[in-house]
Amino acid sequence: MSDEKPSLKERLLFTTPTDDRSRMRAVANNLILHLHPTKVPQPALRFAYTWGLGGISTVLALLLIITGVLLMFRYDASVERAYTSIQYLETQVLFGSLIRGIHHWSANLLVITVFLHMIRVFLTGGFKKGRATNWLIGIVLLLLVVAFNFTGYLLPWDQLAYWAITVGTSLLGYIPVIGTAISNFLLAGPEVGQGALRNFYAIHVAVLPAILILLMSYHFWKVRKDGGISQPEEDGGEDGKRSRVERLTTIPHLVQIELAATAVLLLVVVAWAIFVPAPLEELANPSHPPNPAKAAWYFLGLQELLLHMHPLAAMLLPGIVLGALVAIPYLDKEDGNIGFYFRSKVGLETAVVGAILALILVPALVIIDEQWLDLTALFPTWPTLISNGLIPLLLSLGGLALLYVTFWSAFKATPSEASVGLFSFLVVSLIVLTIIGIYFRGANMALIWPF
Ligand code: HEM
Repeated sequence: MSDEKPSLKERLLFTTPTDDRSRMRAVANNLILHLHPTKVPQPALRFAYTWGLGGISTVLALLLIITGVLLMFRYDASVERAYTSIQYLETQVLFGSLIRGIHHWSANLLVITVFLHMIRVFLTGGFKKGRATNWLIGIVLLLLVVAFNFTGYLLPWDQLAYWAITVGTSLLGYIPVIGTAISNFLLAGPEVGQGALRNFYAIHVAVLPAILILLMSYHFWKVRKDGGISQPEEDGGEDGKRSRVERLTTIPHLVQIELAATAVLLLVVVAWAIFVPAPLEELANPSHPPNPAKAAWYFLGLQELLLHMHPLAAMLLPGIVLGALVAIPYLDKEDGNIGFYFRSKVGLETAVVGAILALILVPALVIIDEQWLDLTALFPTWPTLISNGLIPLLLSLGGLALLYVTFWSAFKATPSEASVGLFSFLVVSLIVLTIIGIYFRGANMALIWPF
């Protein structure tokens, strides 16, 4: 008989199950150890590091797939029957309203949790040390989640759905050269109708889920391949040797945190769906637009920009910011600060200043532009593409560059710390613009007080 001790993995997998329960436990442990390594560094387990946001996004995505498949049994993607099929589901099908509510709120929550996950990864430098590919995959996942929400928005075929998609797809038309072609392809014609409903449904239930499942699997595999999630570099110990951080077994240490977070999340989403049913307005009426006609909430920041700039500039500005996000792993190569929120004390200062500036400047600029400033009237002979497009775009980019240089010179920030300040300014600006779009825009998109 061999007196070799079984490895940790063998012990966790319970290689000689004695009854059904231990066999089930072996199967579950096996599954878990396919997703996770057997041991994880203790700092990576701190909830206040990741806030469980990647895991929460994963559970929400799974919940969306399950409830989405259930909804497909009753939903009918035809202009004549889509709305009534939802009404039927809401009133006649057992748990129909609950399933739809869970799907609706999970989808909205997923936009928020994925966005917060991206913020967490940026702030802790989670894109550094070989993690650039996973950062890029993440950006595609964020865009996918938005695309999921956008295509799903149309399906109930109520007033909200019809007009939000009409407004949303009209933004596509402003993309130079290819914009109209993309819009016509998506809508299967120049406007929202049966072709659009059929295309959006196919994209929502087949194309996007296939890409999402592939990319999510790759994302998880890559986290493992990159050596687990980011964490501070281990200190140089005595005699020049690196002191090693403690490693804890995944089962039960990591798994119990994941199970607790999942239980709380499920409880919140189900309670939410019970108490606040998913909205359903009147049947879509293409000849009667609501006033104001707003895009879906996560596009309202963009819609707000459109009220202040030529559409091409309003599309270019977020495009340039997205480009900068893609480039950040190649621009910020200071690896020493990985695993620390805000990089350092100076990084924290630039982030606070960036956030406060955005809180003051963005509403101020919105009010000034709404009440007093009229660039087209100021330069009446210039084409609006220049007076109301190029000028505000260059001013915005110049302002961002000035902010970066100020962090660098006044705070003695390194490029990495200055980028944290700029990132914080941009994130808070987007949130402020979105809040203005949701609550402070009334009839004809005029500024209003919501209370
Ligand atoms: C459906 C969307 C997404 C899901 C389900 C997801 C899931 C996860 C999970 C479970 C982790 C492990 C650590 C953690 O929980 O924080 C992780 C890490 C990571 N994610 Fe995501 N993610 C998504 C979107 C994104 C986005 C939008 C980005 C960035 C643009 C991103 C970039 C990363 C990176 C770079 C890591 C490694 C972070 C580190 O090492 O600290 N992910 N993701």
